[in-house]
Amino acid sequence: MSQKTTTVINRDALVEAARQVRERAYAPYSKYKVGAALLTQDGSIITGCNVENAAYPACICAERVAITRAISEGKREFVAIAVVTSNGGTPCGICRQVMAEFAPSMPVIIADEKKIVAEYPVSDLLPHYFSPEDLV
Ligand code: THU
Repeated sequence: MSQKTTTVINRDALVEAARQVRERAYAPYSKYKVGAALLTQDGSIITGCNVENAAYPACICAERVAITRAISEGKREFVAIAVVTSNGGTPCGICRQVMAEFAPSMPVIIADEKKIVAEYPVSDLLPHYFSPEDLV
């Protein structure tokens, strides 16, 4: 019998984890630091920051660092993600697509250095996303 427990979302803790990892962002080119914290079904918080590169297209966003870290640790069930920037910026299109792959209804909590500014489900951020069902 499969048991699915509900993982409670502690928004303040998730945002705080994203704020802390944001300090480790490597963003010498844009100077735009981003921190992300992903809550997984087992209650873990997995963080990521953006990592830029002198070859600009090699930059990776904070959200995808957190998500790929989680996947590589064997965690695929996502409950929520917090994203912290200086101005409450929302996730880019590629990150929205990557979130939709694993957790289309997951809430995305968007915050700045002081407060939560918005919260949307992934599917509101990227309606009609390309899904595994489209690969027929
Ligand atoms: N960035 C993120 O980390 N996440 C996003 O969703 C948007 C953009 C990063 C990429 C780059 O290092 C910097 O922010 C400016 O685009």
